[in-house]
Amino acid sequence: MLINKEDLPLVDKQSMNETHYEDIDLINSLNDLIEEFEENPSEELFVKLDEQYSKWFEHTIKHFSGEEQMMQEKKFPAFAVHKQEHDNVLNAMKNIQEDLRKTKSAAGVKNFVQNGLVRWLINHIQTMDTVTARFLEGKISLNQPVN
Ligand SMILES: [Fe+2]
Ligand SMILES: [Fe+2]
Repeated sequence: MLINKEDLPLVDKQSMNETHYEDIDLINSLNDLIEEFEENPSEELFVKLDEQYSKWFEHTIKHFSGEEQMMQEKKFPAFAVHKQEHDNVLNAMKNIQEDLRKTKSAAGVKNFVQNGLVRWLINHIQTMDTVTARFLEGKISLNQPVN
């Protein structure tokens, strides 16, 4: 297991926490497949790995666009900054997917998931998502500083 659910920072909006838990499940399953594939790099496991990556990627697109929609509806002042972080990660995920398919090696995905992504995710939830959830729940207003 790469991330423990207990280590996930919680935000003030429950639907966001639920999406983050789903994300953790998908990342942990992906990580298991990376380890399995590295031990036994069969075509069958490659297909499973590629499918799991796509599933996670699609979930992440929905996860981010869901937050963006809520921010836009409530006119969250830091929308652009938050969205930029999402876009950067989606770009990286797209590149990693291309690399996976081109090289048929899990090295790039492994490095991305185990070294950068988890740290990014925890940090993103502790900063952008935390402030966004507080705002969406009416706990901070437009006139107050955001932290
Ligand atoms: Fe999020
Ligand atoms: Fe976010």
